[in-house]
Amino acid sequence: MVNLGVLISGHGTNLQSIIDAIKAGKLNCEIKVVISNRKDAYGLERASINKIPAFYISPKNKSDEEFDELVLKILEEHNVDLVILAGYLKILTSKFIRRYENKIINIHPALLPAFGGKGYYGEHVHEAVLKAGCKVSGCTVHFVTEDIDGGPIIAQTAVNVLDTDTSKSLAERILPYEHETLIEALKNITEKKYIINGKRVIFL
Ligand code: GRF
Repeated sequence: MVNLGVLISGHGTNLQSIIDAIKAGKLNCEIKVVISNRKDAYGLERASINKIPAFYISPKNKSDEEFDELVLKILEEHNVDLVILAGYLKILTSKFIRRYENKIINIHPALLPAFGGKGYYGEHVHEAVLKAGCKVSGCTVHFVTEDIDGGPIIAQTAVNVLDTDTSKSLAERILPYEHETLIEALKNITEKKYIINGKRVIFL
């Protein structure tokens, strides 16, 4: 059994996909704690409905280091093995990343390394994809390193871009594929042997 800590900032549909996959017996994991940097994150509600310990930490009047210290304390108190950034909109400090080296995964709504990095989050990603005239976009699950959105890729899914797409319609179409890809990646990471060779995650 792998103990998960899920960090959120918003609606929490990726969190919900993990909750549902565990309930359906698809993952040998348990969500030990959910932590949000936004008080109004509906994902906190999803956690309490499912009787999962949930914490809101206010970023106000705290440095990034002080904030992450509090998050790390809660993760350690809940014996978390693997941290999932599920719609989490805060950049992790180096200390956090080192503490959970290659034990933090993130879901990004584009085919990295394209359309990733500082400033590429939420609808900004899809706006950039449409502006670039891409015919294909998608989502990526990757290990988190200090290179924002640049960590070793675990799983990706391609999604067609329609000529009629707006950033909103593209985001909505990709979201369910994020859920599927996140569960696929979690299953692989928690059940298979793998090596990380540079940027490549190689399942054995
Ligand atoms: C998703 O598109 C995710 O990729 C992005 O935030 C959006 C909302 O995620 N980071 P969720 O519904 O809060 O899980």
